[in-house]
Amino acid sequence: MEASFTTVTALTLSTAGAATLRADALVVGVAKAGKALVVAPGAEAVDKAFDGRLAAVLETLGASGGEGEATKLPAPAGLKAPVVLAVGLGSAPEDGESYDSETLRRAAGTAARVLFGSKKAAFALPVASAEDAGAIAEGALLGAYSFDAYQESGKDAKKPLAEVALLGAKPRDKAHKAAADRALAVAEEINRARDLINTPPNDLTPAAFAVAAQAAGKEHGLKVQVLDEKALAKGGYGGILGVGAGSENPPRLVRIAYTHPKAEKTLALIGKGITYDSGGISLKPAGHNETMKCDMSGAAAVFSTVVVAARLGLEVNVTAWLALAENMPSGSATRPGDVLRMYSGKTVEVLNTDAEGRLVLADAITRASEEHPDAIVDVATLTGAMVLALGDRTFGIMANDDDYRTAIHDIAGEVGEQSWPMPLPADLRKTMDSPTADMANMGVRMGGGLIAGLFLQEFVGEGITWAHLDIAGPAFHEGAPYGYTPKGGTGSSVRTLVRLAELTAAGEL
Ligand code: BES
Ligand code: MN
Ligand code: ZN
Repeated sequence: MEASFTTVTALTLSTAGAATLRADALVVGVAKAGKALVVAPGAEAVDKAFDGRLAAVLETLGASGGEGEATKLPAPAGLKAPVVLAVGLGSAPEDGESYDSETLRRAAGTAARVLFGSKKAAFALPVASAEDAGAIAEGALLGAYSFDAYQESGKDAKKPLAEVALLGAKPRDKAHKAAADRALAVAEEINRARDLINTPPNDLTPAAFAVAAQAAGKEHGLKVQVLDEKALAKGGYGGILGVGAGSENPPRLVRIAYTHPKAEKTLALIGKGITYDSGGISLKPAGHNETMKCDMSGAAAVFSTVVVAARLGLEVNVTAWLALAENMPSGSATRPGDVLRMYSGKTVEVLNTDAEGRLVLADAITRASEEHPDAIVDVATLTGAMVLALGDRTFGIMANDDDYRTAIHDIAGEVGEQSWPMPLPADLRKTMDSPTADMANMGVRMGGGLIAGLFLQEFVGEGITWAHLDIAGPAFHEGAPYGYTPKGGTGSSVRTLVRLAELTAAGEL
């Protein structure tokens, strides 16, 4: 597997006026103000080149200013760029208020997608704060993503935007500069996660994923340790080994550590890394396995997050754990009815080999707990039940601490990720009782996402704050692209985890 497929998009903060900047396209915002269409702040020079008639021209073309809308028009004389692209921002904010940063992020993403095949775009969207500058940069860089590594591409093949120039952001303002740097690191690492998720499972095996982690570790000065199948056997990692037992591609447990000399806290992030989930002997039917290369999205998210923490030099220790295995049926596979002895020593009766994520995560949670981190957050495409409950754009949050769960939900909202708090009802625990082992890997069907959470909770070390993000819905997008969200791997939860690390560093959690 190659380390990275993504075309890298450059980001610049420009002080040049919109009229004089050389670019292939100028991006402006357009919004609804009652029944009228208005050009958003930041595009005054562009509007001037249209003799103040830009909104009227757009209206003639049928533009409504709605979110997700993009209208391309030829630029008038007086602008250096040949094309103007107007993106909808929804309702214009009340006087004195500014546009919501997620609205800007999505609009910038839409623009970058529409401009696929162009080289350089200048973004003249409204920037009322450093946060807005960061959101626009993030949206543009995330929208400028495509995964074409497996498609024959001639030299004329279209590529994502090579350069994003942000107008309205102030390059000499420390906060603006920091927001742009942060956006670049976050977007590049989210795009790395997307690459890993989109890479087909015949190439992205557990061993190949571990090699990618080692390469990134070298590049960013992270300490990477890999337990291969022999080391896992020696260590007694029965959960990870049991899930990987049916595959020709043996499992791995990868520990990636970022440390800061002044860090006062340590955050352990654990990712489900099933490189392919066939279901195992409890085989998934056709129609349910085509996208199961996405079952390592949690591992990709925590991997990206620890790299961002290193790139930004956050004053917090972040340890990412990738629990990697391929869940396949074969003569050596774990059977429904087998009992596994987990790394914790607990025995688990495997009633359904398709409930494999909790088995690999449990071993990693026990192992991470040995280091007494201040908090553990695991991220997993864990249950179809969570997708039924919350749909495919919202992840569920469970935790052993109500305040921590609330904090993560708030953080997700701040960074523009949809999430919802879910309970861990103690009464469901007994439905995982097993006549043979300490517990089973399944309980009743109803509330399946919560049962998976209750299973994981049993492995969290005494006194450690723990949260579980079930990203089965938003991790992989099968519908039409929208905003900055492409088809395929999305990089769900990375922005939330990065902000969580930042707030942990700031002592706010
Ligand atoms: N990887 C799946 C969950 C999943 C479903 C992820 C849809 C993304 C989209 C997980 O391993 C699984 O198969 N879960 C089972 C658990 C059940 C057997 C208790 C499920 O949700 O059906
Ligand atoms: Mn499964
Ligand atoms: Zn799975």
